[in-house]
Amino acid sequence: MTADYKVLGDVAVITMNNPPVNGLGHATRLALADGLSKANADGAVKAIVITGAGKAFSGGADIKEFGTHKALAEPNLLSVIIAVENSAKPVVAAMHSVAMGGGLEPALGCHYRIAAPGTSVALPEVKLGLIPGAGGTQRLPRVLGVETALNMIVGGDPVKSELLASLPGQKLFDKMSASAESLAEEAVAFAQSVADTRPLPLVRNLPCKHPQGDAYFQFARNMVKGMAKNFPAPVKCVDIIEMATRNKFDEGMRLEREIFTNLMLTPESRALRHIFVAERAASKIPDVPEDTPKREIKSIAVIGAGTMGGGISMNFLNAGIPVKMLEMKQEALDRGLATIRKNYESQVKKGKLKQDKYEQRMALLTTTLSYDDLKDADMVIEAVFEEMGVKEKVFKELDRVMKPGAILASNTSTLDVDQIAEFTKRPQDVIGTHFFSPANVMKLLEVVRGKKTGKDVLATVMALGKKIKKTSVVSGVCDGFIGNRMIEQYSRQAGFLLDEGCTPQQVDKAVEKFGFAMGPFRMGDLAGNDIGWAIRKRRAQERPNMLYSRTADKLCELGRFGQKTSAGWYDYQAGKRDAIPSDLVNKMIEDHRKELGITPRKISDEEIVQRLVYSLVNEGAHILEDGIATKASDIDMVYLTGYGFPVFRGGPMLYADQVGLFNVVQSMKRFQKNPRDDASFWEPAPLLARLTAEAKSFS
Ligand code: NAI
Repeated sequence: MTADYKVLGDVAVITMNNPPVNGLGHATRLALADGLSKANADGAVKAIVITGAGKAFSGGADIKEFGTHKALAEPNLLSVIIAVENSAKPVVAAMHSVAMGGGLEPALGCHYRIAAPGTSVALPEVKLGLIPGAGGTQRLPRVLGVETALNMIVGGDPVKSELLASLPGQKLFDKMSASAESLAEEAVAFAQSVADTRPLPLVRNLPCKHPQGDAYFQFARNMVKGMAKNFPAPVKCVDIIEMATRNKFDEGMRLEREIFTNLMLTPESRALRHIFVAERAASKIPDVPEDTPKREIKSIAVIGAGTMGGGISMNFLNAGIPVKMLEMKQEALDRGLATIRKNYESQVKKGKLKQDKYEQRMALLTTTLSYDDLKDADMVIEAVFEEMGVKEKVFKELDRVMKPGAILASNTSTLDVDQIAEFTKRPQDVIGTHFFSPANVMKLLEVVRGKKTGKDVLATVMALGKKIKKTSVVSGVCDGFIGNRMIEQYSRQAGFLLDEGCTPQQVDKAVEKFGFAMGPFRMGDLAGNDIGWAIRKRRAQERPNMLYSRTADKLCELGRFGQKTSAGWYDYQAGKRDAIPSDLVNKMIEDHRKELGITPRKISDEEIVQRLVYSLVNEGAHILEDGIATKASDIDMVYLTGYGFPVFRGGPMLYADQVGLFNVVQSMKRFQKNPRDDASFWEPAPLLARLTAEAKSFS
């Protein structure tokens, strides 16, 4: 049972009890329906209160049941709401804390509603690419008016009960309780006060109109269309609310169901639901149970106050955790400190940060030139130059000074964390924390688990990631970890496209049309082409047989490192970021093509996108097979939060699933005939080949 039933005097109280948020999964729905039957059959009961135990009235439908038979199994949400509406005895919803989505909809079916102050009320289905599917679109406008309901349903964000209760003419709440604590008692008293009222009021019988009708909905639709871009659901929210004003209630309900079901099948909704689940799944590590003991992290030390060290420090200052930064020279410390100040000051100027908050954060930051000052820190994050020799020196120092039990983390983006761990006598305490630039902005944190990293260390760093509001994804040790290992194949493929006939702008445009925030060449110019150059030089020694296009090296030989040198794949005007196509670069690419003896051909946007995205997919499959990532959805989270992969496509692995792995492999086989791809590039990873043969998918 996931609801408790008790009778207080002549009032039956049904308390949903399905932690953590009383999700309306099948068992909870069944318990609600049973409670209603029991109360109606009991002659001693005159009225009924429905409420929720613990931290919520109800957080909504149980997302784990989406797409399974349980989601629709009777009694489904609609049947429960009909049972509420049809109850011969008045039903009062006693709402507190959270009443959202499929949790709010049954309350809207109740005859009366009483809410505690501070209750978050929302219909957030649009965030999953859907519209509310159990009458929310038909009932909310009837109790809050069309405009308020439309704003809430299109935006999906929670609104506090006291704000809604203050709206003139609102019929959402019949009463507000004095406090959250007194809600239960007040709800029972309220139920007693309406026990004999007949006929029972129903939201479905209220009128639903907007005085400006057509003009208002036209305006709303235009606004929403502009904002929704690649997502169909927001405009459908407008449509269905307009239908609520034009149709009888039951016809509105039928239309709601029809639109809901159609949206459920869209790739955009599938992507958003996938991300919702993937985000939560990322923190679950198969062999590290949630109750793994964690170490206490009350202070952080950061080695290196450069680009990354500064941004990393800000994350902790923002979370109220003191940081001590170490550098080799005072000038470097001063520079790092000035950058942090500048960042915060620009937030203050924009009104995003209050002056006193800024000062509080800066007060948590101290600096030092001496390792001995770090000995009390609970965790240290190294962000010095990307050279193994430098890392070795730093980690030997850290091993010497840090207190026992301190966590020693490296922000290395390509080096072997296991080798770094061996520089210390405590490899179990060493871990990789790979932040993305700018580290105070980017959501992604790749948590690199070394061979010897302790489970408690991993659990601690994952929890810390949550505290600083990152999306943390665990990666095993390999060159580039998850994200950069995949981007290497993507970059190689981008180079081959140039060799075969594309211009950088053609490739970028195709990929940006697909939905990427930035194409590979604009991205290179932003990040600095010299960084990739240095990595390729190192890799050329480790993997001399790996074939690359030479164009990127030639570009760097010309000193065209990107925006920082006002010239890269594109030209840049001083102080501006607009990428202007460069004749010089295009000529360089043509000349190189001639050297290779390749006759250029026109390559379609579709082929460009497939070659780039499938190179990610195939490497992703290798990464899964090698155990570097434990789930395909982790790879998607890395790409969505760290590499600008279009959200409405749900990440590379889900995208491949949606295209169909068979189709992906067929395209890859076609690409094997390209002049620049050595056959091995498009050899399907064993996992991809196996899943395709078994007609399976990554998810
Ligand atoms: P950076 O060159 O901006 O900063 C490095 C800082 O470390 C400099 O201020 C330098 O003075 C200091 N430093 C060097 N040796 C030191 C030592 N022995 N003791 C104390 N301080 C020392 O470099 P950046 O970009 O911040 O990179 C740092 C690390 O983060 C590297 O491992 C890099 O691969 C990694 N990383 C960089 C990203 C980026 O986009 N820049 C992204 C993700 C990781």
